[in-house]
Amino acid sequence: MNFINQKLNRVSVRSFSDKKISQKDIDQLKKIINASDTCFNGQQFSAIFVNDKETKRKIYESVKERNSAKHVLECDTFVFFFADFNRINIANDIYLKNHKSIVDKKLLARTEIIDSLLYSVMDATIAAQVTVDAATSLGIDSCFTGSTSRNAVGIKKIFNLPDYLIPVVGVALGYASQEGRDKSEFEPKINKIYDNCYPQDQVKKEVEDFEISSNKYYLEKHNLDISYSKRTIEYYRHLSDDMFTKNIKIIWDNNWMSSDKSK
Ligand SMILES: Cc1cc2nc3c(=O)[nH]c(=O)nc-3n(C[C@H](O)[C@H](O)[C@H](O)COP(=O)(O)O)c2cc1C
Repeated sequence: MNFINQKLNRVSVRSFSDKKISQKDIDQLKKIINASDTCFNGQQFSAIFVNDKETKRKIYESVKERNSAKHVLECDTFVFFFADFNRINIANDIYLKNHKSIVDKKLLARTEIIDSLLYSVMDATIAAQVTVDAATSLGIDSCFTGSTSRNAVGIKKIFNLPDYLIPVVGVALGYASQEGRDKSEFEPKINKIYDNCYPQDQVKKEVEDFEISSNKYYLEKHNLDISYSKRTIEYYRHLSDDMFTKNIKIIWDNNWMSSDKSK
């Protein structure tokens, strides 16, 4: 099967067998992640490969909504992607040492918070997608896992991270168990592609239509009276302030001392 067909047939897998990923495949994944594109080649992301059971357990236990991260325990390897401005700060120190005439010695991460955050989150996200795609081409199953990133402060402790690393998303890798294969399914998708312009009226109509078709899908397939708007909006409504924003502030503002109070 060529890559396009593999990709079109891929579904997220949340239950894994004991089958191990070969070292050769892990090495290939590491190589391709290191080669992934980054904003202006600034390379502001890092990935940590976790195959140690105890660390996977700690990651799982750091998640509030554990249901959304059960597969972390079962997968062969969990790859954690971080927006990494620590590397840029190290480069900043070198730069300032070599360019003594520059007066402003403030950390870049402190002066341009949104820009640096966006660039590094983009890099980490792209690297995670590269991993999923490469894994797909190697016949390895996967599941993006964002819930493991919400307790950024907890993750910082597990890996003993320096400041300016924000967990963005994890990717669980392995081979589907029979249950994983049986439960995997194509979830309904809305069109997101347009030619030459952004057609607001069409977008509105698509969301309205998708509301009906997604509700029909969940009712028929899972006997659940939910829909696109119900799932999505309730997700946003229930985001509590101990998630990304608060954690990012703690880590990005170098205010680590107050982190324990954030829980
Ligand atoms: C950034 C991101 C974070 C995600 N986080 C989770 C997660 O925490 N737990 C989970 O089970 N699935 C997670 N997913 C997987 C989505 O639920 C999945 O992509 C979506 O349901 C579509 O299903 P499909 O990949 O099988 O087409 C995440 C996906 C993305 C892109």
